[in-house]
Amino acid sequence: MAVPFKTIDQLPIDGKRVLLRVDFNVPLTPEGNVADDSRVRMSLPTIRHALKRGGRLILMSHLGRPKGKVVPALSLRPVAERLSEILERPVSLAPDCVGPEVKKAVASLGEGEILLLENLRFHKEETDNDPAFARALAALGEVYVDDAFGAVHRAHASVAGVPTHVNLKGGGFLLRKEVEALTRVLEADTEKFVLILGGAKVSDKLGVLLSLMDKAHTVLVGGAMAYTFLKARGVDVGSSRVEEGTFGDAEAVLKKAEATKTAFHLPVDHVVAPEISETAPHQTTDNATIPTSFMGVDIGPQTVSAYARQLRDATMIFWNGPMGVFEIPAFANGTFEIARAVAGSPGESYVGGGDSIRAIHESGVADQITHISSGGGASLEFLEGKPLPGIEALITA
Ligand code: 3PG
Repeated sequence: MAVPFKTIDQLPIDGKRVLLRVDFNVPLTPEGNVADDSRVRMSLPTIRHALKRGGRLILMSHLGRPKGKVVPALSLRPVAERLSEILERPVSLAPDCVGPEVKKAVASLGEGEILLLENLRFHKEETDNDPAFARALAALGEVYVDDAFGAVHRAHASVAGVPTHVNLKGGGFLLRKEVEALTRVLEADTEKFVLILGGAKVSDKLGVLLSLMDKAHTVLVGGAMAYTFLKARGVDVGSSRVEEGTFGDAEAVLKKAEATKTAFHLPVDHVVAPEISETAPHQTTDNATIPTSFMGVDIGPQTVSAYARQLRDATMIFWNGPMGVFEIPAFANGTFEIARAVAGSPGESYVGGGDSIRAIHESGVADQITHISSGGGASLEFLEGKPLPGIEALITA
């Protein structure tokens, strides 16, 4: 499948200063080490290709949401160290991402050497997509490559601004792989497409629900967003987390499901507890109703069986969002069972979003998934069919 942009292997990068936008927005441990380096590893093919071709590599990324201030705990130093260990070669960290010292470090970069710029979001101009800031970043490189799929939905300077100032531009191998895989989902014309959505908020998933409903044969809903749907249907959900103000949206989704004859499943039982804590006593309900002083924390065993049954003959699955508060072992069963059922399905399986990916990895079934997307919000917006600023900016006439 052709992607709408050039990829790094089609660009003349030999010996050139290659400005590579990566998504190194990785989780850190409380001690400040990289807790999960998957996102770093996912861009390795692009990084290795650039190095092999003698590119002078200038990497740029955001980390967390420092809101335009220098937050030392969100320095990219641990990421530079991790990348250096993986590549077994030095990766220097620039003191900033723009300014005279950065220019000097870039100028002294030899062929096949790597410089990681400090967290772009230490400058509010990054999220503001400030033109002068974008120009200053653009001036550092001769070729611009975007491999940060996880950030392509952000109209930020390094994603949407910089490429407007560079003629030689394209995507990395990760970006190409993501666009190819998610296009297969978007264009799917398949017998039983099952959409599994979980997580806290209906509002986060509303766009994708409405856009994929025409395509989906079956929708399985879990996580806190299920309680909003149940409440909109008049079911008592006790003290469960619901998203006030979205009942109208939830009703619109339920109506669309009826109109498109989509089988829309909500939990038929729950694991409930008086509060979300490791030590909270928990029990399972017999049906969808949750007693007054309890809140739903996971889907129950009947729901797990019903959802797993739907996945058994699925021909395509897209999953985003956990089924419960799976960080707490007592409330993790639903999410892990769904992870195993997705992996065991004979159909193609696509998973996006940090929590679902973690569940897939922790269940040890990652190798049975067709595609694990590096982007959470980005994969949802892609599937909504929205033009994404980072991809639009790479399209040359
Ligand atoms: C992500 O983690 O989804 C991406 O890195 C984007 O991060 P953001 O939601 O803070 O823009």
